[in-house]
Amino acid sequence: MSVIIKRLEETEVTHEELFSLIKEVFLKREEEGIHVSYIDFTIDDFSLHIKDAIVIVAVDEGSGKPVGMVSLRLFRDGEVLREYGYEELLAVSNSVQRLGVGSQLFKAEKKAASNLGLSYIRSDTSVKATSSVTFHKKRGYIIDGYQSSGLTNTYSYTFILPIKRSLKTTTFYCKVRFLIFFVIIRLSKDSEGNYYPLGKLLRKLKVIS
Ligand SMILES: CC(C)(COP(=O)(O)OP(=O)(O)OC[C@H]1O[C@@H](n2cnc3c(N)ncnc32)[C@H](O)[C@@H]1OP(=O)(O)O)[C@@H](O)C(=O)NCCC(=O)NCCS
Repeated sequence: MSVIIKRLEETEVTHEELFSLIKEVFLKREEEGIHVSYIDFTIDDFSLHIKDAIVIVAVDEGSGKPVGMVSLRLFRDGEVLREYGYEELLAVSNSVQRLGVGSQLFKAEKKAASNLGLSYIRSDTSVKATSSVTFHKKRGYIIDGYQSSGLTNTYSYTFILPIKRSLKTTTFYCKVRFLIFFVIIRLSKDSEGNYYPLGKLLRKLKVIS
């Protein structure tokens, strides 16, 4: 698959084209029984969501149409502004998946994060979205948490991709963190984000959100 990878602002790609890409990809997830909140977005929600994000697109060299995208929103950790980026809208058109497009987007995303001096990239994905889980692990992401946010109808893994070395990104730390989150979340919430009695208590105590 021959694609050009660029920042959105360097292309002629429109929000409408990316919005329809997202709808196509997440409609397939819906058919697989995985509801992702992006499917409920309107074009305005979508534009607002990517407004301040770094958006990287994969454009098919032949047609000039976008066949993949990834967005990275910058966050602060404590006092450090732009400490990490949250990978959100990662999607490759259904007909060209497994041809290396996602890997090319990933490479550009990691380079952008490194150029910005970010310490790490965060991401999450439904535990049932096995292609996405495998993709992230293969590209160097480490599972470091477990959640039920209500944004999907399944539990999700959270991942961390180290850009700079730190305690937070060591395999041991991530494994321990994952185990703690797994136990707390499974006792606190169902897969759709509804709280069990213990969850309500832990939420009141601000242990979980
Ligand atoms: C996840 C996704 C972005 C991967 O993009 P892609 O272009 O298909 O991925 P690549 O071709 O670069 O694959 C790289 C590696 O990821 C893994 N992978 C990708 N798709 C896979 C699948 N369907 N099953 C198993 N492993 C898969 C493989 O290890 C693959 O390497 P290999 O082909 O050498 O074995 C794409 O499948 C997608 O858009 N999925 C739907 C939306 C989604 O799940 N988004 C992410 C979180 S919300």
